[in-house]
Amino acid sequence: MSDDSPTSHEIALHGTAAIVTGGAKGIGAAIVRRLAVSGATVAIVDLDTAAAETLAREVPAAFAVSADVGDHTGLGAAMDSACRRMNGLDVLINNAGWDHVQRFTDTDPALWDKLIHINLKGVLNATHLAIPRLLERGGGRIVNVASDAGRVGSSGEAVYAACKGGTIAFTKSIARETAGRGITVNCVCPGPTDTPLLEEIKQDERAAGTMDAIVRATPNRRLARPEEIAAAVAFFATAPAHVTGQILSVSGGLTMAG
Ligand SMILES: NC(=O)c1ccc[n+]([C@@H]2O[C@H](COP(=O)([O-])OP(=O)(O)OC[C@H]3O[C@@H](n4cnc5c(N)ncnc54)[C@H](O)[C@@H]3O)[C@@H](O)[C@H]2O)c1
Repeated sequence: MSDDSPTSHEIALHGTAAIVTGGAKGIGAAIVRRLAVSGATVAIVDLDTAAAETLAREVPAAFAVSADVGDHTGLGAAMDSACRRMNGLDVLINNAGWDHVQRFTDTDPALWDKLIHINLKGVLNATHLAIPRLLERGGGRIVNVASDAGRVGSSGEAVYAACKGGTIAFTKSIARETAGRGITVNCVCPGPTDTPLLEEIKQDERAAGTMDAIVRATPNRRLARPEEIAAAVAFFATAPAHVTGQILSVSGGLTMAG
């Protein structure tokens, strides 16, 4: 068995209903495949409808729903329709994200708004819309995909890192608010991972150089594979109710918690 293939306890996802935001590509697509293999029906909530529909054709247990996670009203309609189709909701994976690498003093408020809209408001919106539905089923699992940038900071990613740090604090706060009601809230922090987003970032020569240096400084000396992040997400999606409010880095040893 490879170290990131499903384990027997994930059979616990059989018959469950899951939403994965940003599930059309990269880490999100790996999460969709992983949850589907483990028995869940999965709604892929993504802005990129074409990519989401392509993935849904490949994964029979998944289907595509278009939405911008930063738009509470539009996301609400999309989640309503997904939950009607699945007869409820058991698992929410807040994965949608976006980044643009630039020194903070060279950025402007329009860029900050876009980063906050996707990376922070998206998490607040989906969580706000999901909790009542999870409670209808007697509880459930929320897993947020943040970033090590939110734990240790990252030059050229100040606002993105602020959103991810916010997501980490939000994870712990909502874990406290929902504890004892059957809902757990945990967070996975990927290090640099081989996805379309990373490819986009590496179009910038300086960012590409920084990324190479980060890989050299990583004890594992390579990028993460999306499937490795998905395995950590699946762990939290199937973990017992006492595992809540936790932050797990998947970074090949680049960042280690004290
Ligand atoms: N790739 C990395 O190195 C890395 C490192 C740390 C954290 N992360 C985080 O992992 C998550 C996934 O990143 P990825 O690298 O797979 O990115 P990606 O760009 O490859 O995929 C992100 C997906 O999110 C969707 N999306 C973007 N904005 C959206 C919106 N407003 N509403 C709905 N969907 C939207 C995109 O269409 C895409 O399908 C993000 O939260 C990202 O911040 C990635």
